[in-house]
Amino acid sequence: MNFKVTKTEKSRFENINYETLGFGVHFSDHVFISRYKDGKWDDGAIEPYGLLPFEPGLCVFHYGQSIFEGLKAFESLKGGVNIFRPDMNVNRLNRSAEIVCIPTYDEERLLAGIRELVKIDAKFIPRKKGQSLYIRPVVFGSGHFLGVTAASEYHLIVMTSPVASYYAAGLNPVKIMVSTDHVRAVQGGVGAAKTAANYAASLWAGMDAHKRGFSQVLWLDGVNRKDIDEVGAMNIMFVIDDELITPSLSKGTVLAGVTRNTVLTLAKEFGMKVSERNISIDEVAEAHANGRVKEVFGTGTAAVISPVGLLEYKGKEMIFNGMKIGPVAQKFYDTITSIQYGEVEDTHKWNQHVDL
Ligand SMILES: Cc1ncc(COP(=O)(O)O)c(C=O)c1O
Repeated sequence: MNFKVTKTEKSRFENINYETLGFGVHFSDHVFISRYKDGKWDDGAIEPYGLLPFEPGLCVFHYGQSIFEGLKAFESLKGGVNIFRPDMNVNRLNRSAEIVCIPTYDEERLLAGIRELVKIDAKFIPRKKGQSLYIRPVVFGSGHFLGVTAASEYHLIVMTSPVASYYAAGLNPVKIMVSTDHVRAVQGGVGAAKTAANYAASLWAGMDAHKRGFSQVLWLDGVNRKDIDEVGAMNIMFVIDDELITPSLSKGTVLAGVTRNTVLTLAKEFGMKVSERNISIDEVAEAHANGRVKEVFGTGTAAVISPVGLLEYKGKEMIFNGMKIGPVAQKFYDTITSIQYGEVEDTHKWNQHVDL
């Protein structure tokens, strides 16, 4: 597929200090952009990153009809660039689209647009292990109309951002607060979609958690506040006895994480017993009291694996593996990152390789 390319006149590259990258602070020179009008998407094009002309009546400003994705590209040890499982993200973008009534996008075209964008802005891809190029597709209702109805015009924009290693100071376990006051999603709602509303709905509880010294919130089901859904922007996994347990996706309240799928696939290959099922906070508390919880960790694109050292529930603290990363979490982290950086053979064909 060939896309119309309009190059920027002034690169943003010189303004970036790769020693202090942070997350999502810097943007590369170009975007892949496509517009939906009169019932169809256009072919998409590469354009300079910059201002867009929108009026105050823009649909998404009012009713939040917006979805996004997050994936990463890595400089491969073997040369070129590896984009990790972009097919999964593009497919999930379309599942999110259906949930909030946004017209779906041709997945092959979007993958081609992402590859082209990464190639054009390849100089922005960080060189150090741990760093990466974060890729953020976003789709939003862009007509100007105040009726509460699905928009008739949309923009799809893919931007990229060089980001720091999540673990500059090592793989340190985090402290998580189990939220009993707030909920993120309910059955029949939009919890399975990567839509703006879910992130707006998470901010209040997240701020409460931060004020109290926790890094994220663990969400329980919205009805009984018992079954575990997920953590902040990660899926959650428990190693109880010798079983790897993660909440199932069947209730539609949990995001189907790409890293979650990657870990579950690897765990089965490692010969672990794997269960996707309902798991309540009471079951975790009881197993913890009996010394059966060996490890707890989150999975997500940003950190890959994030060990959970402590969960606070109703004022009581549960500490896991002595606040240290455990062997299971470490093994998943090492295996996944070595595939992403091209250090080992990618037997699952998870990377989409871009030659430079
Ligand atoms: C709410 C939520 N759950 C889980 C995840 C983990 O998903 P993934 O592994 O695809 O990054 C994310 C991050 O995208 C998220 O925002």
